[in-house]
Amino acid sequence: MENTALTSLPHRTITTEEPYKICFVCLGNICRSPTAEGVFQHLVEDRGLEAYFEIDSAGTSSYHVGEPANKHSQRVANQNGITLHSNSRQLKGFDLEYYDLLLAMDTDNYQNMMDLARRNGLDIEEKSARLRDLDPDPTHGDVPDPYAGGMDGFQLVFDIVQRSCENLLDQLEPMVK
Ligand code: 4NP
Repeated sequence: MENTALTSLPHRTITTEEPYKICFVCLGNICRSPTAEGVFQHLVEDRGLEAYFEIDSAGTSSYHVGEPANKHSQRVANQNGITLHSNSRQLKGFDLEYYDLLLAMDTDNYQNMMDLARRNGLDIEEKSARLRDLDPDPTHGDVPDPYAGGMDGFQLVFDIVQRSCENLLDQLEPMVK
Protein backbone atom coordinates (compact mmCIF):
# COMPACT_ATOMS: atom_id res chain seq x y z
CA MET A 1 0.00 0.00 0.00
CA GLU A 2 1.17 3.50 -0.79
CA ASN A 3 1.71 5.24 2.54
CA THR A 4 1.23 8.84 3.48
CA ALA A 5 3.96 10.52 5.52
CA LEU A 6 2.56 9.52 8.93
CA THR A 7 4.26 6.43 10.31
CA SER A 8 2.69 6.51 13.78
CA LEU A 9 -0.15 8.47 15.32
CA PRO A 10 0.75 11.71 17.12
CA HIS A 11 1.50 10.44 20.62
CA ARG A 12 0.67 12.28 23.83
CA THR A 13 -1.13 11.76 27.11
CA ILE A 14 -4.86 12.22 26.67
CA THR A 15 -6.74 13.73 29.61
CA THR A 16 -10.16 15.32 30.05
CA GLU A 17 -8.36 18.69 30.28
CA GLU A 18 -6.60 18.03 27.00
CA PRO A 19 -8.84 15.81 24.91
CA TYR A 20 -7.48 14.35 21.68
CA LYS A 21 -8.93 16.30 18.77
CA ILE A 22 -9.63 14.47 15.52
CA CYS A 23 -11.09 15.78 12.27
CA PHE A 24 -12.21 13.41 9.50
CA VAL A 25 -12.01 14.98 6.04
CA CYS A 26 -13.66 14.14 2.70
CA LEU A 27 -14.77 16.19 -0.31
CA GLY A 28 -18.40 17.11 0.40
CA ASN A 29 -18.65 16.42 4.15
CA ILE A 30 -21.99 14.72 3.55
CA CYS A 31 -21.09 11.01 3.07
CA ARG A 32 -17.74 9.57 4.16
CA SER A 33 -16.42 11.96 6.82
CA PRO A 34 -19.80 12.33 8.61
CA THR A 35 -19.94 8.52 8.70
CA ALA A 36 -16.44 8.37 10.20
CA GLU A 37 -17.32 11.09 12.73
CA GLY A 38 -20.49 9.23 13.78
CA VAL A 39 -18.84 5.80 13.93
CA PHE A 40 -15.83 7.03 15.92
CA GLN A 41 -18.06 8.98 18.34
CA HIS A 42 -20.15 5.84 18.85
CA LEU A 43 -17.07 3.69 19.53
CA VAL A 44 -15.74 6.26 21.99
CA GLU A 45 -19.07 6.34 23.84
CA ASP A 46 -19.21 2.52 23.89
CA ARG A 47 -15.88 2.53 25.73
CA GLY A 48 -16.95 5.36 28.10
CA LEU A 49 -14.23 7.66 26.71
CA GLU A 50 -16.33 10.55 25.40
CA ALA A 51 -14.70 13.07 27.77
CA TYR A 52 -11.29 12.32 26.23
CA PHE A 53 -12.00 12.98 22.57
CA GLU A 54 -13.21 15.89 20.47
CA ILE A 55 -14.44 14.62 17.11
CA ASP A 56 -15.49 16.54 14.04
CA SER A 57 -15.54 16.31 10.25
CA ALA A 58 -15.17 18.72 7.34
CA GLY A 59 -15.03 18.80 3.55
CA THR A 60 -12.29 20.17 1.33
CA SER A 61 -14.99 21.64 -0.96
CA SER A 62 -17.83 24.07 -0.24
CA TYR A 63 -20.29 22.17 -2.48
CA HIS A 64 -22.69 21.13 0.30
CA VAL A 65 -22.03 23.61 3.11
CA GLY A 66 -24.87 23.62 5.66
CA GLU A 67 -26.37 20.30 4.52
CA PRO A 68 -26.96 17.33 6.83
CA ALA A 69 -25.43 13.93 6.02
CA ASN A 70 -26.61 12.21 2.84
CA LYS A 71 -29.80 10.17 3.42
CA HIS A 72 -28.16 6.91 2.33
CA SER A 73 -25.25 7.50 4.73
CA GLN A 74 -27.81 8.20 7.46
CA ARG A 75 -29.78 5.06 6.67
CA VAL A 76 -26.75 2.75 6.81
CA ALA A 77 -25.58 4.40 10.03
CA ASN A 78 -29.06 4.10 11.58
CA GLN A 79 -29.15 0.39 10.71
CA ASN A 80 -26.08 0.10 12.91
CA GLY A 81 -27.51 2.12 15.81
CA ILE A 82 -25.66 5.34 14.91
CA THR A 83 -27.12 8.80 14.24
CA LEU A 84 -25.17 11.25 12.07
CA HIS A 85 -25.36 14.81 13.44
CA SER A 86 -23.11 16.65 11.00
CA ASN A 87 -23.83 19.82 9.06
CA SER A 88 -21.45 20.14 6.14
CA ARG A 89 -18.70 22.69 6.55
CA GLN A 90 -15.55 23.46 4.61
CA LEU A 91 -12.13 22.71 6.09
CA LYS A 92 -10.23 25.90 6.97
CA GLY A 93 -6.61 26.72 7.75
CA PHE A 94 -7.61 27.12 11.39
CA ASP A 95 -8.64 23.44 11.51
CA LEU A 96 -5.20 22.35 10.37
CA GLU A 97 -3.68 24.10 13.39
CA TYR A 98 -6.37 23.10 15.86
CA TYR A 99 -6.67 19.32 15.44
CA ASP A 100 -4.21 16.72 16.76
CA LEU A 101 -5.02 14.36 13.92
CA LEU A 102 -6.45 14.97 10.45
CA LEU A 103 -7.67 11.86 8.63
CA ALA A 104 -8.54 12.15 4.96
CA MET A 105 -10.92 9.69 3.36
CA ASP A 106 -8.87 9.37 0.19
CA THR A 107 -5.65 10.38 -1.50
CA ASP A 108 -7.23 13.29 -3.40
CA ASN A 109 -8.54 14.86 -0.23
CA TYR A 110 -5.24 14.17 1.55
CA GLN A 111 -3.62 16.21 -1.23
CA ASN A 112 -6.30 18.90 -0.89
CA MET A 113 -5.44 19.12 2.84
CA MET A 114 -1.74 19.43 2.04
CA ASP A 115 -2.46 22.18 -0.51
CA LEU A 116 -4.51 24.09 2.06
CA ALA A 117 -1.67 23.68 4.57
CA ARG A 118 0.87 25.00 2.06
CA ARG A 119 -1.32 28.03 1.31
CA ASN A 120 -1.49 28.71 5.06
CA GLY A 121 2.25 28.21 5.63
CA LEU A 122 1.63 25.15 7.80
CA ASP A 123 3.42 21.79 8.00
CA ILE A 124 0.82 19.16 8.96
CA GLU A 125 2.40 15.96 7.63
CA GLU A 126 3.13 14.55 11.08
CA LYS A 127 -0.51 14.72 12.08
CA SER A 128 -2.15 13.82 8.77
CA ALA A 129 -2.96 10.49 7.17
CA ARG A 130 -5.59 8.71 5.15
CA LEU A 131 -8.12 6.77 7.20
CA ARG A 132 -7.27 3.60 5.27
CA ASP A 133 -3.67 3.81 6.47
CA LEU A 134 -5.40 2.52 9.64
CA ASP A 135 -7.52 -0.12 7.88
CA PRO A 136 -6.44 -3.62 8.97
CA ASP A 137 -7.77 -4.91 5.63
CA PRO A 138 -6.86 -2.25 3.04
CA THR A 139 -7.38 -3.14 -0.60
CA HIS A 140 -6.04 0.31 -1.50
CA GLY A 141 -5.59 3.67 0.21
CA ASP A 142 -8.98 5.22 -0.45
CA VAL A 143 -12.45 5.06 1.07
CA PRO A 144 -14.37 4.99 -2.25
CA ASP A 145 -16.57 7.99 -3.01
CA PRO A 146 -20.16 6.65 -2.76
CA TYR A 147 -21.88 9.85 -3.88
CA ALA A 148 -22.68 8.89 -7.46
CA GLY A 149 -23.29 5.15 -6.85
CA GLY A 150 -25.92 2.87 -5.31
CA MET A 151 -26.60 1.67 -1.76
CA ASP A 152 -23.80 -0.94 -1.96
CA GLY A 153 -21.27 1.89 -1.97
CA PHE A 154 -22.64 3.34 1.26
CA GLN A 155 -22.53 -0.03 3.02
CA LEU A 156 -18.93 -0.52 1.81
CA VAL A 157 -18.00 2.91 3.15
CA PHE A 158 -19.56 2.05 6.50
CA ASP A 159 -17.69 -1.27 6.76
CA ILE A 160 -14.32 0.27 5.88
CA VAL A 161 -14.88 3.17 8.25
CA GLN A 162 -15.96 0.91 11.10
CA ARG A 163 -12.92 -1.38 11.07
CA SER A 164 -10.52 1.53 10.50
CA CYS A 165 -12.03 3.53 13.37
CA GLU A 166 -11.86 0.52 15.70
CA ASN A 167 -8.17 0.17 14.96
CA LEU A 168 -7.70 3.91 15.43
CA LEU A 169 -9.31 3.84 18.86
CA ASP A 170 -7.37 0.69 19.83
CA GLN A 171 -4.18 2.65 19.13
CA LEU A 172 -5.28 5.81 20.95
CA GLU A 173 -6.90 4.27 24.05
CA PRO A 174 -3.54 3.43 25.75
CA MET A 175 -2.71 7.19 25.68
CA VAL A 176 -5.74 7.94 27.88
CA LYS A 177 -4.76 8.67 31.50
P1 4NP B 1 -18.22 12.83 0.42
O1 4NP B 1 -19.02 12.48 -0.94
O2 4NP B 1 -16.95 13.53 -0.03
O3 4NP B 1 -17.96 11.50 1.01
O4 4NP B 1 -19.12 13.71 1.23
C1 4NP B 1 -19.25 13.40 -1.94
C2 4NP B 1 -20.25 14.33 -1.79
C3 4NP B 1 -20.50 15.25 -2.82
C4 4NP B 1 -19.73 15.23 -3.97
C5 4NP B 1 -18.72 14.28 -4.11
C6 4NP B 1 -18.48 13.38 -3.09
N1 4NP B 1 -20.01 16.16 -5.03
O5 4NP B 1 -19.32 16.10 -6.06
O6 4NP B 1 -20.89 17.01 -4.86
